[in-house]
Amino acid sequence: MMGLVNLTKLAIFCLLCLLFQLLLQSAYAQEGFLSLRCCSASTYTDSKTNITWTPDAGIIRNNGKCENITTAPVKDNSYDTARIFGTSSTGSKWCYNLTTIKSEDYLIRGTFINGISSDVTPETVFDVSISATIIGQVNSSSTDLLEVEAVLRATDNYTNFCLVRRHGNPYLSKLELRPLKDLLYFNNHSSSVLKLVSRVDVGNTIESIRYPLDRSDRIWKNSEIKIETANSISNSSITVHGANTTVPLQVLQTASIDLERLDFSLNNLGKGDSNYLIHIYFLELNDSLKTGERVFDVMINGEKQYDKFDILGNGAGATNYRELVFSVSANEALNMSMVKSPGASLGPICNAYEIFQVLSLVQGTHQADLDKAVELRDELASRNPENEVLASWSGDPCLPLQWEGLQCEPNSDGSFVIVSIDVSSNGLMGPIPTVVAELTHLKYLDVSHNELMGPVPESLAILPHLTKFYFGCNTNSESNHLPSSLANRPNLTTDSGICGDQSSPRLYSKVFIGSVAGGSVLFAVALGVIFACFCRWKLYSLFGKCSFLSPSMDDLCFKSECTQNFTLQCLEFATRKYDTLIGEGGFGSVYRGTLPDGQEVAVKVGSATSTQGTREFENELNLLSAIRHENLVPLLGYCCENDQQILVYPFMSNGSLQDRLYGEASKRKILDWPTRISIALGLFYLHTFAGRGVIHRDVKSSNILLDHSMCAKVADFGFSKYAPQEGDSGASLEVRGTAGYLDPEYYSTQRLSSKSDVFSFGVVLLEIISGREPLDVHRPRNEWSLVEWAKPFIRESKIEDIVDPNIKGGYHAEAMWRVVEVALACIEPFSTYRPCMEDIVRELEDALIIENNASEYMKSIDSFGGSNRFPSIEKKITLPVTPSSTEPSPILTQGLPPLQPR
Ligand SMILES: *[C@@H]1O[C@H](CO)[C@@H](O)[C@H](O)[C@H]1NC(C)=O
Ligand SMILES: *[C@@H]1O[C@H](CO)[C@@H](O)[C@H](O)[C@H]1NC(C)=O
Ligand SMILES: *[C@@H]1O[C@H](CO)[C@@H](O)[C@H](O)[C@H]1NC(C)=O
Ligand SMILES: *[C@@H]1O[C@H](CO)[C@@H](O)[C@H](O)[C@H]1NC(C)=O
Ligand SMILES: *[C@@H]1O[C@H](CO)[C@@H](O)[C@H](O)[C@H]1NC(C)=O
Ligand SMILES: *[C@@H]1O[C@H](CO)[C@@H](O)[C@H](O)[C@H]1NC(C)=O
Ligand SMILES: *[C@@H]1O[C@H](CO)[C@@H](O)[C@H](O)[C@H]1NC(C)=O
Ligand SMILES: *[C@@H]1O[C@H](CO)[C@@H](O)[C@H](O)[C@H]1NC(C)=O
Repeated sequence: MMGLVNLTKLAIFCLLCLLFQLLLQSAYAQEGFLSLRCCSASTYTDSKTNITWTPDAGIIRNNGKCENITTAPVKDNSYDTARIFGTSSTGSKWCYNLTTIKSEDYLIRGTFINGISSDVTPETVFDVSISATIIGQVNSSSTDLLEVEAVLRATDNYTNFCLVRRHGNPYLSKLELRPLKDLLYFNNHSSSVLKLVSRVDVGNTIESIRYPLDRSDRIWKNSEIKIETANSISNSSITVHGANTTVPLQVLQTASIDLERLDFSLNNLGKGDSNYLIHIYFLELNDSLKTGERVFDVMINGEKQYDKFDILGNGAGATNYRELVFSVSANEALNMSMVKSPGASLGPICNAYEIFQVLSLVQGTHQADLDKAVELRDELASRNPENEVLASWSGDPCLPLQWEGLQCEPNSDGSFVIVSIDVSSNGLMGPIPTVVAELTHLKYLDVSHNELMGPVPESLAILPHLTKFYFGCNTNSESNHLPSSLANRPNLTTDSGICGDQSSPRLYSKVFIGSVAGGSVLFAVALGVIFACFCRWKLYSLFGKCSFLSPSMDDLCFKSECTQNFTLQCLEFATRKYDTLIGEGGFGSVYRGTLPDGQEVAVKVGSATSTQGTREFENELNLLSAIRHENLVPLLGYCCENDQQILVYPFMSNGSLQDRLYGEASKRKILDWPTRISIALGLFYLHTFAGRGVIHRDVKSSNILLDHSMCAKVADFGFSKYAPQEGDSGASLEVRGTAGYLDPEYYSTQRLSSKSDVFSFGVVLLEIISGREPLDVHRPRNEWSLVEWAKPFIRESKIEDIVDPNIKGGYHAEAMWRVVEVALACIEPFSTYRPCMEDIVRELEDALIIENNASEYMKSIDSFGGSNRFPSIEKKITLPVTPSSTEPSPILTQGLPPLQPR
């Protein structure tokens, strides 16, 4: 009997437990909170707050890598794992698509702790964005920025929270979304995102206050700013009367007071003017005070914002609580002061404040394009669930970073539209989705080299701006047939479905469509994060691996292992007291020498007096110590003794490209055409090493050195810069470069980008083609500038007139045409129309392959040259390349000048 009673009791108890649990859960569901623990395997309820944390699996498209957090600054069970993105996958933007309700207000908070992961280097830097608006930057080496929080008004029924790679692998440990019911942050700022700068519970010296005391789970931190003279006071029995507040009473019950003034200052807000929204909350903690006793002025950055503020002043004691809201503009620092007004008997009080940076809401992709792009992605992804590129397509298609393979342009209404889609060489299966025809701004579409099936959608014909459409090299013959509606369209270039039809030089089309990056965010991010992004697929298909996704150990090992510190004495001995001058470098003279172990070296000695030289010396030392590549002149060592600035490199026995083309060396032996192309190819790595691109800023033929096997090595990094990032937009840099090679756009805008190097590289290509100097005032006036002289000939297809007379008869016309086309594209006046290095290398490789095939043929007739002349390309020939590249088909040579007799 007793047993039964006990059992019943137990059952009822359990039922109650269950009910309670359900109630609890529904209570939290009602709050509309989303609390994600990244990479966690289970849910976890925090006993302090009763917030239930759930795993993030399924909310993110790309799974990233999970990492245990073993050491964290604060022990917190709401996260013990972090998700690390980009370790193995393609892409540079990762977004959590969060469900929101349009026009409602939310708080979003990301926490970034990675534990100690070998996948996160101290150089890791990434941006955090809410949809298209960047709200902050996380820098793994700075320990204080662990949280990024912003308040926003949802512009749709979902909101994306994104991490955008700048360098290294982004990570996230938890993500919180909180609805902000009844909180009035957006009275004047509805087209803004408010980034939290500071939220302080003044006078609280104990724990931060958050949910459940704050219904919206704002975290009120205790005073981080020490106020020297002020006293902390509290009154736990006081309540708010005559007013409503959203601030928890516990937050208001503590305050700072002072007899004269309270000062709060925030520094390091970032350079440049920015708008801030300041909410200050006041509750009079002294019950017995009367109107007119505590009166003070509120100043911000020295400017009086409120004269004679009296909390009780609103009709004699009607309320003991007031809020003040200010919008101010500030640069780097904010100083808030509350100063006792003349005649008042008591000094100021302050209970709490919040400071937000007002960021203007960046419009992303035009709604119609966005919807269709998502549809296109989802349709392709349903057929290609494993495709990494499609998995990386998350968040807004255009901003802050374009989906890989997409290009966008600013629209007249301030949004962005998609003008180019390139999903070629991507292993895609299934039909070509018809929804692509609804992306009405499309100018360029490339779906070629996939395994797509079915017919080409007829509806593509309705795209008004489509000028290039490539769909060749797909498996199914049906998709290799152009519908008549498209075939008859004027001004539409297609590959007619033929695999590798050469009537459509792909480089051109890509370059031509180049987006006119209007939005400054797009511009900065696109440049800063990666170069020219969309080129990467082509590289994948060629090399199987992308050399600039993450730095390899090879790139970074050099510093510790190889860069030596030479003594001055050693170098004096090696150069026999600098007796053989071999050149004048960027910041000093270069001497030839021999080290004790027999190695021949070039020793660059800076002029000790100039500060300019010092900067360049340090720059080159830093860069070359950090980066090593077979196509860069390696740094053997340096010497800083007695304020000397000396750098030591291996001696390059074949001199400079300039010397070989039209200097003394050219008189001894002519540089043949295939060698010229393979030298040009050596510059490929210029923009792609060590994770973050380097802009050389002084690309010229005299800085391209040739080793004993005629392998090109780029030298002189004295002016080089890492690719610009947001914040260092290049404005502070003086324009650098050499006359004749200088990018006119960079010169006029002073805006540095990798495309400036591309321009200079184009000039080098013209030198290689013509054997002429870029600037030669000894020629007739109209021939001074190589660029201006060559352009008209190229446009009129008279390339024989610009080709170096020394190699006449020594080249394959098709190969020459390829190089000329690349050169022309590189020297486009507008940088956006110039190709990126990846595109350039593809064309040059094709040219070299064509040239080599022709050479092989010629060799069988007339024993031609050594077999080992093109060391840098030989390994690449074994890699899969498209048939069109390896074997110029009969179709291909039609309409081209005949093969030159040798
Ligand atoms: C959390 O829930 C438990 C019951 O599960 C309750 O006893 C406790 O008071 C709650 N804590 C807070 C902070 O609400
Ligand atoms: C993380 O810790 C769990 C156990 O706490 C372990 O099973 C798992 O293998 C660890 N993961 C990593 C990546 O170390
Ligand atoms: C990251 O933080 C470190 C240390 O605070 C700083 O030296 C470095 O410049 C920062 N990098 C960026 C890109 O902000
Ligand atoms: C958002 O959702 C609401 C209801 O949940 C619906 O009425 C509204 O049409 C949706 N808005 C958009 C833009 O989808
Ligand atoms: C406080 O809010 C309640 C309910 O919204 C409202 O009825 C009341 O008038 C408000 N009081 C003041 C002083 O604004
Ligand atoms: C908000 O706008 C109103 C009316 O436009 C203005 O009176 C008020 O001062 C503004 N508030 C702030 C904090 O700028
Ligand atoms: C986010 O999710 C919503 C609903 O699940 C979907 O309608 C929307 O297209 C998604 N947005 C993006 C950019 O993927
Ligand atoms: C085709 O191009 C020519 C010359 O650029 C232009 O005049 C013509 O309007 C274009 N036709 C169409 C249908 O776009």
